[in-house]
Amino acid sequence: MEAKRRKWLKSHHDTLFPFFPFLKKRDIGWLFDSVKGKETLKGALYIHIPFCTGRCTFCILTKERPSGGTLKYVNSILEEAKTWREYYSHVETVYVGGGTPTALSTAELKLLFEGLGEIFQIDKAAEISIETTVSELTADKINLLADLGVNRLSVGVQTFNPGLRNVLGRRSGVKEVIKKLDTARKVFPLLTIDFLYDLPGQDKRDVLTDLRIAMGIGIDGISLYPLIYNPKTVIARQFEQPTTETAMAVFANARNFLDDNGYTHVNINHFSNGRDKFRYSTYFNRLDNVLGLGAGATGFLAECFLKHNSTSGKYIRDSVANVFNVPEAIIPVLWCVSQLQYGRIDLEEPKRRWGFEPLEAFTATIEKCVDRGELIIRKNAIELTTTGMFWANTIGAEMAVEYLYDGKGGLVSLEEGSSKIAKGIMLNKLRHGRKALKGTCKY
Ligand SMILES: C[S@@+](CC[C@H](N)C(=O)[O-])C[C@H]1O[C@@H](n2cnc3c(N)ncnc32)[C@H](O)[C@@H]1O
Ligand code: SF4
Repeated sequence: MEAKRRKWLKSHHDTLFPFFPFLKKRDIGWLFDSVKGKETLKGALYIHIPFCTGRCTFCILTKERPSGGTLKYVNSILEEAKTWREYYSHVETVYVGGGTPTALSTAELKLLFEGLGEIFQIDKAAEISIETTVSELTADKINLLADLGVNRLSVGVQTFNPGLRNVLGRRSGVKEVIKKLDTARKVFPLLTIDFLYDLPGQDKRDVLTDLRIAMGIGIDGISLYPLIYNPKTVIARQFEQPTTETAMAVFANARNFLDDNGYTHVNINHFSNGRDKFRYSTYFNRLDNVLGLGAGATGFLAECFLKHNSTSGKYIRDSVANVFNVPEAIIPVLWCVSQLQYGRIDLEEPKRRWGFEPLEAFTATIEKCVDRGELIIRKNAIELTTTGMFWANTIGAEMAVEYLYDGKGGLVSLEEGSSKIAKGIMLNKLRHGRKALKGTCKY
């Protein structure tokens, strides 16, 4: 079956792999020079706080236990922020992610938010989000965050199912989670949560139960991520990953349920009751500017990816971002692939902006996806069906590979030795290689 041979890419980062061999390494001085004298950049601000005292069995995030260095770390972020003030003064939305940002002390959180407010001009109406987890969210921190201007709290719940919470190594009990969410609901204008599906032994009904409880609490935004079984995680060593067909059925069932209950599908993994606009995520979709600060933080601005040193220690020693410029010829491809995250590629905009025709650039991929019922071609857009949304990251990578590696667009740089090797590595990453399976879950 086609679905078995095709690799289901669960993370949107996977759609970027085909672009890597084409990126041109630059330095920050080059980037500052290229934006100097122009209108100052504006857009989103991402801050990465890599600290977390948790040890979840599935976690693949850049994180470390908070030690004595947290205050130094916050100060390093503010120092890096100051280097951008001249070029990036106007911030339209802020997202503080982790790790678990609320692992910082109240004094450090205050220093961070007030410092950023002094350095950047943050829109009064900006969506300001922070990620947290119940075990690191005290009443003091809830009130402090609201006072500091956070208006969108994103809580990692993963599941309300006690057996599965155990498998995931989550620390708080279900009653405590619901109680904290109820409290947060009263304080923050927007409350969103993260759930996981494709968990060992989890079935359709388990996911619907999670969604029902969330709706009962009045959650505005629900992220529903498929669990990534990274071989380095405890869970991947212990449990068998459900089949792609099972995951697809769970996803379609959840989507229909959410749709029936007034939640719209905003991007691949996010649903909203209409109040949560998740503005921060739309910056990626449109290739608008996102300035990322902090250990492991990435960003995208002025047609460059930013990437920082990955641990707090290294970041404190050197907070200067690495810069990778995306060649002009590739920008429209990246734009189209990014649009897929939102379920639709507009056909007029790339034609108008770059003379780029998605239907010609990705003909083979589009034909196959239409045949499989994943894409529908409308007059001015290509739209993803529910199955298409499930496969969206894979489809994005397939489109990028078709254009960048299969001789379209006159891109010849991959003929050179080192680029050929990079291409081989990238294609390997995207091809299916199902690992030997382990035990099943008996939670
Ligand atoms: C920074 S964490 C959220 C906040 C907090 N640390 C927590 O776990 O409650 C962001 C989200 O990444 C997701 N995540 C972490 N590891 C994952 C994995 N292996 N596969 C898929 N999603 C994962 C989880 O849903 C998590 O809530
Ligand atoms: S609480 Fe969040 S960041 Fe911490 S280990 Fe668990 S999933 Fe990872």
